[in-house]
Amino acid sequence: MVTGANEGIGFQIVERLALEGLIVVLCCRDECRGFHATEDLHAKGLKNVIFRRLDIRSPESRSDFIDWINQTYGGLDILINNATAFFYDNEAEHALETINTNYHGPVSFTESLLPFFKPSTAGARIVNISSLQGQLINVNDVGLRQQLVDPSSFDVDFINSWAMITRKPVRPATEWRWATEVLHITSPKSFSTPTPASYHCE
Ligand SMILES: NC(=O)c1ccc[n+]([C@@H]2O[C@H](COP(=O)([O-])OP(=O)(O)OC[C@H]3O[C@@H](n4cnc5c(N)ncnc54)[C@H](OP(=O)(O)O)[C@@H]3O)[C@@H](O)[C@H]2O)c1
Repeated sequence: MVTGANEGIGFQIVERLALEGLIVVLCCRDECRGFHATEDLHAKGLKNVIFRRLDIRSPESRSDFIDWINQTYGGLDILINNATAFFYDNEAEHALETINTNYHGPVSFTESLLPFFKPSTAGARIVNISSLQGQLINVNDVGLRQQLVDPSSFDVDFINSWAMITRKPVRPATEWRWATEVLHITSPKSFSTPTPASYHCE
């Protein structure tokens, strides 16, 4: 299964895996765009692509998906965490959306799916799509960088604390800069990527 796969890199991954003969579940939030992206692949003869809606931020949607994949396939072999939220501004609302889509959602989803990976001679796989822009070297502050590589200080509360800073009406310059850096490493994106054939969705 590939998250965030109605366009961009996720869509291309689905196509390549389907060409290898795997059954691939193409996931995204938007039913219409997901449906049309899947139709595009079916039209190329890749009937082994199946669409299933998944909003990686939503506990209900994640739980529905896990029930469905277990009932339908008895588990899974490969999870590709590709879905992403990206914004060019530093609005508080967008900061939280970024943290929820790019961090909390995939972490919770992956943890919940772990018991359902099938034993495989090739080895079950979890692939997390990242970016050169997400490298820690891009975090200028040495103290913050050390916190980000230290598993004992890097937890959910730590990430949340940086997202919350963006909500403060008055932010000390240092706090603001650090919060922005954390957002950048969780929100890597620099260019638009190939999309399926164009179609119209409301
Ligand atoms: N493009 C680049 O420059 C670049 C460079 C390096 C690495 N990357 C990484 O590659 C990955 C894909 O990037 P991309 O540029 O191909 O992305 P993209 O074209 O913007 O596509 C993002 C996908 O994520 C889905 N999505 C967004 N929010 C979601 C949610 N809450 N739940 C489920 N799906 C959600 C979107 O579909 P819906 O809106 O329908 O949900 C869409 O399919 C990302 O992890 C990115 O960091 C990108």
